[in-house]
Amino acid sequence: MMRKSLLCANWKMNHTLDSAKDFFRKFRDSYASQDADIVIFPPYPLIYPLHQYADECGVQLGAQNVNENSKGAFTGEISTDMLKSIGVSWVIVGHSERRDIYNETDELVGKKLKKSADAGLKTILCVGEHLETRKNGKAMEHVKNQLDINLSQITNDLISQVSIAYEPIWAIGTGIASTPADAQEMMFFIRQWLAGKYGEGISDRIRILYGGSVKSDNMAGYAAMQDIDGALVGGASLDAESFAGIIRAAI
Ligand code: PGA
Repeated sequence: MMRKSLLCANWKMNHTLDSAKDFFRKFRDSYASQDADIVIFPPYPLIYPLHQYADECGVQLGAQNVNENSKGAFTGEISTDMLKSIGVSWVIVGHSERRDIYNETDELVGKKLKKSADAGLKTILCVGEHLETRKNGKAMEHVKNQLDINLSQITNDLISQVSIAYEPIWAIGTGIASTPADAQEMMFFIRQWLAGKYGEGISDRIRILYGGSVKSDNMAGYAAMQDIDGALVGGASLDAESFAGIIRAAI
């Protein structure tokens, strides 16, 4: 099964409008449109003003988070309708920084995923274990538990909108990336889990990404793995040349 590559830039709380525009000017020069989905996730207020820039480069824009409610008294939060009204088609839910720093539980991540998929948004669910968990040999058990709860409300007709990003937390922003073989082992496990719940045909079509210290010089190793369909990139996606290099290495 050939799945189209998906390369995502998670900018987290970085860039201003000026530096982001600069990114796109440079990106346009260093990146030639490829047969892949390229999605950049800027901070909320930068999404709308960057649309024209993204269109010129043939890349899509997404949001790093979304609220699980439709609307109302939720100061500081952003709804699926708001995102759709400014042309956003992608959302990330359950990033480990949301889980660890903002105490998002598996149940909450499950609600966000359901809300986002119901709204017709393409949604990337992040899962992954802490170093302690891996050292204790419980990484798969941990990821299975996340999948069980996070995907509990996702039915066969919604799962086609979901991609999974496996991001071992010890690899995020540390420069210590997972080996491609270890990442593949987990991706295979995730795909088997998906096949068990949704069937082989659907599981074969779901894109699974690796995330955690991806750089242009290690990307090819992941891209060569059978079950790895792309990457969710943090630090190395902030610079246009660097992100373009990752895309080239992935395809
Ligand atoms: P990193 O972050 O590439 O800086 O390790 C990845 C992520 O958090 O998505």
